[in-house]
Amino acid sequence: MTDVLELGVNIDHIANIRQQRGTVYPDILEAVRQIEGAGAQAITLHLREDRRHIQDADVYAVRKLLNTRMNLEHAVTREMVKIALDVQPEDVCLVPERREELTTEGGLDIIRQFQKVKGTAEVLGQAGIQVSLFIEPDIEAIRRVPDIGAPVIELHTGRYAESRGDKRLRELERIRKAAEFARAQGLKVNAGHGLDYGNTPAIAAIPELSELNIGHAMVARAVFVGIWQATREMLELMQQARRD
Ligand code: PXP
Repeated sequence: MTDVLELGVNIDHIANIRQQRGTVYPDILEAVRQIEGAGAQAITLHLREDRRHIQDADVYAVRKLLNTRMNLEHAVTREMVKIALDVQPEDVCLVPERREELTTEGGLDIIRQFQKVKGTAEVLGQAGIQVSLFIEPDIEAIRRVPDIGAPVIELHTGRYAESRGDKRLRELERIRKAAEFARAQGLKVNAGHGLDYGNTPAIAAIPELSELNIGHAMVARAVFVGIWQATREMLELMQQARRD
């Protein structure tokens, strides 16, 4: 069992609201202050190639303000690696990216893209950045991670979040098994995507997990209670799931 299950709050959708109208509000730095004040352990942000939400200037401004940890998500491209090396986040999570997608749709295909991912992970790792690979809860993929040299994986919980009934239970079991296998290989194991206040407890209860990265549902909750309260509620729910 990892001691504390940490929360990384993904702020992309706060920037999304701003970008939709080209306004200066909502202020993502104010959001970072409140999220950190509420006790989250990391700020997660995805600099997409199309810059649809987070902008380069946001990454630098958050870096300057941050008191916790920055988890920068980006695609496996030269442009993004250059930015990451300049920004020096504590963590980078490598994600797949397709321009047309609504959000990150599946995990990285580290089997087909083995050399490219390995090369990128090496460059970032040598710069002292902790590299995470966003992958499906698939044992065969996890088996290849030590060869890539990344110390962390983030298990894609999207399929679990989208499914219902028995299918959801099967997806949960797949995540459980994947987390157990990955920990046994000495990897740090995170999880995220599509997690909300209803489906998070079952994931948070998986003892091998170290961190959850959650965005959309928390920003939606913040419409009613503010991001500070939305963060407190998620942290409490996660801690409760670990106690149960
Ligand atoms: N983790 C990763 C790697 C992601 O790409 C995303 C979505 O940007 C998240 C977590 C957060 O997903 P959601 O916004 O659905 O909570």
